[in-house]
Amino acid sequence: MSFYDVAESMHMSSVGLLSIIIAIGVLVLMLCICYLTKCCKRCRKHKSRKKKKGPDTKSVQLLGEAYKEKADMDERADQSEDTADGKSMGKTDGDKFLGKILYKLDYEYSTNSLHVTILKCENLVALDVGGKSDPYVRIYLLPDKKKKNETKVHKKTLNPVFNETFTYKLSYEDIMSKTLMMCVYDYDRLSKHDIIGQIKITLCLVDLGKTIEVWKDLEKAEIGKQLGDICFSIRYVPTTGKLSVVILEAKNLKKMDVGGASDPYVKVCLFQGGRRLKKKKTTVKRSTLNPYYNESMSFEMPYDAIEKTNLQVTVVDYDRIGHSDVIGTVVLGVNAKGGELRHWAEMVAAPRRPIAHWHKLKDPDEANLTLTAPPAPR
Ligand SMILES: *[C@@H]1O[C@H](CO)[C@@H](O)[C@H](O)[C@H]1NC(C)=O
Ligand SMILES: *[C@@H]1O[C@H](CO)[C@@H](O)[C@H](O)[C@H]1NC(C)=O
Ligand SMILES: *[C@@H]1O[C@H](CO)[C@@H](O)[C@H](O)[C@H]1NC(C)=O
Ligand SMILES: *[C@@H]1O[C@H](CO)[C@@H](O)[C@H](O)[C@H]1NC(C)=O
Repeated sequence: MSFYDVAESMHMSSVGLLSIIIAIGVLVLMLCICYLTKCCKRCRKHKSRKKKKGPDTKSVQLLGEAYKEKADMDERADQSEDTADGKSMGKTDGDKFLGKILYKLDYEYSTNSLHVTILKCENLVALDVGGKSDPYVRIYLLPDKKKKNETKVHKKTLNPVFNETFTYKLSYEDIMSKTLMMCVYDYDRLSKHDIIGQIKITLCLVDLGKTIEVWKDLEKAEIGKQLGDICFSIRYVPTTGKLSVVILEAKNLKKMDVGGASDPYVKVCLFQGGRRLKKKKTTVKRSTLNPYYNESMSFEMPYDAIEKTNLQVTVVDYDRIGHSDVIGTVVLGVNAKGGELRHWAEMVAAPRRPIAHWHKLKDPDEANLTLTAPPAPR
């Protein structure tokens, strides 16, 4: 059938049919164009939204690499310090002269007050690279390790004069069971404070009938005061902004109760800009110093918050009656150093992969410092 036949059968002129066909063609073409432009717009919108909100996995990885470099630098600095120490200490490591301290003890029977005066230190060893320290003294009345008093920090000196008195209200019988400990520290605004040396005074061996003023050589601080180790994995998914933590296990935890074993659980806190946002806990494991958890938890961490986030993992000895004691803690994140920073960096550099590491637990006092320190410059 030819075109003319069709036109004839529909009782129309061929011109009329042609114009109808052209009109339909134009309509279809317009619909097509309309649809295409809409598609394109949506596409562009999608893309721009992706650029604005969706995290760019590549830049997250780059950030991780930058952290890794910083962790490497920290570790190298630590190592060179260690070797420098090793050289200066030589073979007389144990009995190296660390400096001396002058203190005064004065017991007032009428008021049951023990006045402890830290007068001064002389010839402290220099821990800072510059050959000067920023010393201060911390005082404990053992066995209570929680309460402490501190002198002011004296800047850039190895012969600080403190002349500060601390008063303890204690009956004479109570004093007989106490040990006074004075620890000289080198203050450091950013990293953990290094201990220069310490002395211990067993008060039942001291004649408190009169005021005493004594010079004592500082002793090496007890190391081997191990708190234990913890293993956990962390995983970050930038597209969902999810940080997952799996607490795996802990080992060689320090005994908190005399005699009995501990009942440890693990508390995980997320900090942003020094503020605590979220806290989650594992279950309590009964009577063990080597608990196994394998418990997972997750936190919201949008990718633009990576640079101000810290993750604190704390092992706590659960106590149903008294209040629970912190055994030790680890802080990961931008304020961290060494192995802790490296763990965080590895996670950021490898999105979606769980990364597990062991960490040595630290004294919570030191961790607090890390959390409040300003973020390390990149
Ligand atoms: C130490 O402080 C006491 C009282 O605060 C003061 O009388 C004394 O002179 C001070 N000694 C030194 C060496 O500064
Ligand atoms: C010593 O520390 C305790 C708390 O640990 C505090 O209550 C007390 O006021 C401090 N004493 C001095 C003299 O600073
Ligand atoms: C740890 O937990 C995960 C998920 O709950 C499980 O698949 C895995 O088998 C567990 N591992 C061990 C060693 O129990
Ligand atoms: C830091 O120490 C202060 C006082 O010593 C305490 O009130 C605070 O809760 C500690 N913060 C953390 C995160 O442990």
